Amino acid sequence: MTKFLCTAKVVGQYMLNATTKQIDLIVPEIARTAVPGQFVNVQVSRHTAPLLRRPLGVAAVNREDGTISLMYRILGEATRILADACSGDTLSVVGPLGHGFDLTAKKPLLIGGGLGLAPLYYLAAALAKQKPAVLMGGRIADDLFWQDIYQDYCPEQYLTTDDGSLGTQGTVMALLPELLTKGYDCAYVCGPVPMMKAVAAACAAAKVPCQVSLERYMACGLGACLSCSCGGVGKRLKVCTDGPVFWAQEVAEW
Ligand code: FES
Repeated sequence: MTKFLCTAKVVGQYMLNATTKQIDLIVPEIARTAVPGQFVNVQVSRHTAPLLRRPLGVAAVNREDGTISLMYRILGEATRILADACSGDTLSVVGPLGHGFDLTAKKPLLIGGGLGLAPLYYLAAALAKQKPAVLMGGRIADDLFWQDIYQDYCPEQYLTTDDGSLGTQGTVMALLPELLTKGYDCAYVCGPVPMMKAVAAACAAAKVPCQVSLERYMACGLGACLSCSCGGVGKRLKVCTDGPVFWAQEVAEW
């Protein structure tokens, strides 16, 4: 698939909760072609540090306006610099990168933990006609600000928090076994590795196909440096170009 090196103009940026921001960029070439599950590499500064681009999953697209939205947690120097970008500023963006989700599910179940719910949001929009259900996990109630964001596409929501301050106490695994008996024909998963691994095992046991979106440190994002490599079944996988979305049974090393 064609990827573009673009100068993207910031058209808005706002807080989603205490530590998470959404940034909206005008970048028509990428908005026209990005599919759910793909990511972009954003150069957060023109100065020497931080040197590398940051991979961020595409969280929403407006093809008519030529905009994409990215959601990120402010954590470390690169995201602090990104958080200071104002409307009218420009950023260098490469994308769309990687392989997206298979969208053929008729009764999809989205399962996200933390920032994993960002790329799943674009997927929810793409699957809206199939009325996807979403299972969201967070540490505390404030982590589940996603409820309102997802409402239009996923009115059927299941919530868990580690401390029990919202929804069922525990991880998504507290609700998943019961949900997997309800006829969903594909689980789409993105979140912390232990969560994805546990979800993949439960889906395998229930014979529900499962796609996972892996996150790895990525230096180039283009398949050239091997910094994102992980063990697949019978071969090494490059998360940036073979993924970031895989069928769970393709992944041998989480
Ligand atoms: Fe360089 Fe994947 S990030 S090969």
